[in-house]
Amino acid sequence: MEIVLSGIRPTGNLHLGNYFGAVKNFVKMQEENHCFFFIADYHSLTTHPNPKDLQKNVNTILVEYLASGIDPQKATLYVQSDIPQTAELYLFLNMNAYLGELERCASFKEKVRNHQDNVNAGLLTYPSLMAADILIHHADKVPVGKDQQQHLEMTRVFAARFNRIYGVSYFKEPQAFNFGQNLVKIPGLDGSTKMGKSEGNAIYLADEPDVIRKKVMKAKTDMGPKEPNAEKPQEIANLFTIMQHVSSPEVYQYFDQKYNDCSIRYGDLKKQLAEDIVLFCQPIREKIQDLEKNTPYLQKIRQTGKEKATQSAQKTIEEIRHIIGF
Ligand code: TRP
Repeated sequence: MEIVLSGIRPTGNLHLGNYFGAVKNFVKMQEENHCFFFIADYHSLTTHPNPKDLQKNVNTILVEYLASGIDPQKATLYVQSDIPQTAELYLFLNMNAYLGELERCASFKEKVRNHQDNVNAGLLTYPSLMAADILIHHADKVPVGKDQQQHLEMTRVFAARFNRIYGVSYFKEPQAFNFGQNLVKIPGLDGSTKMGKSEGNAIYLADEPDVIRKKVMKAKTDMGPKEPNAEKPQEIANLFTIMQHVSSPEVYQYFDQKYNDCSIRYGDLKKQLAEDIVLFCQPIREKIQDLEKNTPYLQKIRQTGKEKATQSAQKTIEEIRHIIGF
């Protein structure tokens, strides 16, 4: 069984892009792999959240992961800061991480460009913390998007360097988990190719039906096709892409046909799409609402995750301490 690991920074609610792009695959992966899914609350400290927001956001991901079908019996679902062994490994890895390579990291350069007022050491050493997350459980595979590929590459560099410095073959080099055909990118409702929180174009799993309807009805469209079988402009293609995931094939074909023979009315398409999103989200939203009220259950889940993750992390940290010479 392969060890698969994925972390998510707690920055708010999950949207359809998170769901179809990642979480839905996690639910499948947990059947065949030893999966670690964790909430990267240490990482989120780089932006200095206030304690209340931090706590709320961690809870939100926990609830929404569970509501989406992540099974804490099958996978190890935990909160990063519940495993301080990660922080210890981060310290060790930082001793072998060089300023030059950290500064050259694309995500760091971007932060320096866009957040000049807060270029802290946590941002600089973000890749060592991520490497610690991955190496503490000896993950084989890490599902990562494009923006995280460089971090995974640096994890391999840090793993190999540790082995070289101490003359061991202790760490293995983790590989990217390729979703292959299951790789899904959900576009925004504003004509952009990506649904995202920071893009401000997202539909959240927890959105109430009327909120979903309003968002969909406001989606960007054009004047309509002028000739049969025209290529769909981005904003129209986007609506069809979302439809592909939430609607039945018959519904999709019906509107595709209407587009192709130029009889489509975008108002009808949006109404249908909105209702299908509402139906799709409803069972998840209901679970979210149930779980949110069930603090004792959530505490139990969190405790179980902590115990399972600690077992693996503690073993690693003891072995590393021994290798280093403590
Ligand atoms: N950096 C990742 C992100 O922002 C989150 C993350 C932290 C992560 N640690 C990880 C992802 C370890 C995969 C493996 O999306």
